[in-house]
Amino acid sequence: MIEPIKWRDNKIVFIDQTELPARLKYIRCRDIDTLCEAIKKLRIRGAPLIGVSAALGYALTAVNSKAKTIAVLRKDLEKAVRKLRSTRPTAVNLFWALDRMEKKFFCHCERSEAISETDCFTPSRFAMTKIKKAVLKEALKILQEDKDMCRAIGKNGARLIKNGDVILTHCNAGILATAGQGTALSIIYEAKKQGKRFKVYAGETRPLMQGSRLTMWELIENRVDATLICDDMAASVIKNKGVTKIIAGSDRIAQNGDAANKIGTYGLAVLAKHHAIPFYIAAPSSTIDKNIKSGRDIPIEERNRKELIYICSKQTAPLGSKVYNPAFDVTPHSLISAIITEKGVYEVKRFRRI
Ligand code: MRU
Repeated sequence: MIEPIKWRDNKIVFIDQTELPARLKYIRCRDIDTLCEAIKKLRIRGAPLIGVSAALGYALTAVNSKAKTIAVLRKDLEKAVRKLRSTRPTAVNLFWALDRMEKKFFCHCERSEAISETDCFTPSRFAMTKIKKAVLKEALKILQEDKDMCRAIGKNGARLIKNGDVILTHCNAGILATAGQGTALSIIYEAKKQGKRFKVYAGETRPLMQGSRLTMWELIENRVDATLICDDMAASVIKNKGVTKIIAGSDRIAQNGDAANKIGTYGLAVLAKHHAIPFYIAAPSSTIDKNIKSGRDIPIEERNRKELIYICSKQTAPLGSKVYNPAFDVTPHSLISAIITEKGVYEVKRFRRI
């Protein structure tokens, strides 16, 4: 299976997703500014993958830091965290991963400070190496956990797939959005592995085409029976092609089950209700924000107006157009049939495991 992000020779190696499907290009990243630019420009994207890349970015900063003291290393890391936190506001996995990395760093700092106080022979260089190793180990653990979570989501969700299903998905919640086999698409991959027969429709996902460029690319690579539609076709395809369920990912889930995902997801949930078909959200538990009660508090990223004025560098709207370009919308929990995580399948309305 293709790996959208890897740690190799103290560098982060990632697929530049803006080049897909035309070119599979890997970038070797040695510094935090290159990584932040990649996240902002969606070279690296998808909530879980953004979280994993932030953890690796933290480790990259630690490993490459020239700091001679823990205090200076801490300053270097704080600067990197500020830059990473400002890349994209909606995917909570970014903040979750950075909080976890900082906790690991501070916990090791406290330990090594305690050792230096009691053992005057402990050279600080030794302590520094130990801290850097611990930080890198934590980042690689986050990466491995993401892979495991993806597989577990797939296995839990595959139970819901029946022979003959027609599944509609939106944006890209697949291999390219995670360190593993995806969330929504992991369910599709697991169901296929189990020998189930079904069809998939993928919405192209304007304005940045994650559905057509990325989902179609990876579904074809993995020999899934998939058909591309443009977003405007969703209602008619649900009605006329017999869509039986909709499965999407999420960037942040509030405590009441409201879920933010790529713009257009809310509309699909409304359509699902109208056509009386289930609408599922698949996401790791790191996407659930314990600090946010409802979707009203989820920060929604607004992106550059140029994304609507140009399609693939070709101008498609007057330059003077007023533009509104939110990258995500929030689906209220009342429209979500169930949330599928690595821990199980949860009916949102009653918060009951099914
Ligand atoms: O703007 P993007 O491409 O990062 O948006 C990605 C999505 O909306 C995904 O559906 C979401 O992050 C879940 S990915 C498993």
